[in-house]
Amino acid sequence: MNNSQRPFRLGILGSGKGSNFVAIADACAAGVLPATIAVVVSDVATAPMLERARERGLPARFIAPGNFRTKLDEAAETAYIKALREAEVDLVVLAGFMRILKGEFLREFAHRVVNIHPSLLPSFPGLEAWKQALDYGVKYTGVTVHFVDQGVDTGPILAQQTVPVLGGDTPATLHARIQEAERTLYPAVLAALARGEVRVDGRQTIWRAPV
Ligand code: GAR
Repeated sequence: MNNSQRPFRLGILGSGKGSNFVAIADACAAGVLPATIAVVVSDVATAPMLERARERGLPARFIAPGNFRTKLDEAAETAYIKALREAEVDLVVLAGFMRILKGEFLREFAHRVVNIHPSLLPSFPGLEAWKQALDYGVKYTGVTVHFVDQGVDTGPILAQQTVPVLGGDTPATLHARIQEAERTLYPAVLAALARGEVRVDGRQTIWRAPV
């Protein structure tokens, strides 16, 4: 994906505490993820992720999402596109961004938006996937990194990691175990994308070397 000498530029979108953001930023700082974080954007003004980004001296912005609960309104979508375009991002990285991206945004960044989801998709798309897994009674769940398409958690899968569900798990303990897996898997997949080691062919993602 990145054949030039210019550093691969990530635009990170999140709504929450930012543990994935921290793992990605640490991997960039350690040089294991050959990329620069060009901008961090949240739809939540008080998201701890923004604070974590500012502590690291990274450009961090709250952009109001508008009036809808689960998506951006048109003006907000335009503002998000503008911020990411101005930051010249190569890849939009959703790290706990809790709004569905559609239409114009995905056209602007076609095949350049990735997401991490806390289950083995296509099982348990949507909200609180760890709780869905626990309620269903599966013995294994996990983490999926995938490209974002027009559906909800339906885009081509880049990588998955299984996580066991243990007797006595609560939603919180299971989510914590899933998040531990996320912190390793996401930076590894982003590194492969930054190195241009993955291409998409329909629903398939084709890797030059496995993660
Ligand atoms: C992560 O577990 C991520 O997989 C999940 O939100 C959490 C964000 O945590 N994303 C979704 O559920 C998306 N549908 P973080 O803010 O600590 O990175």
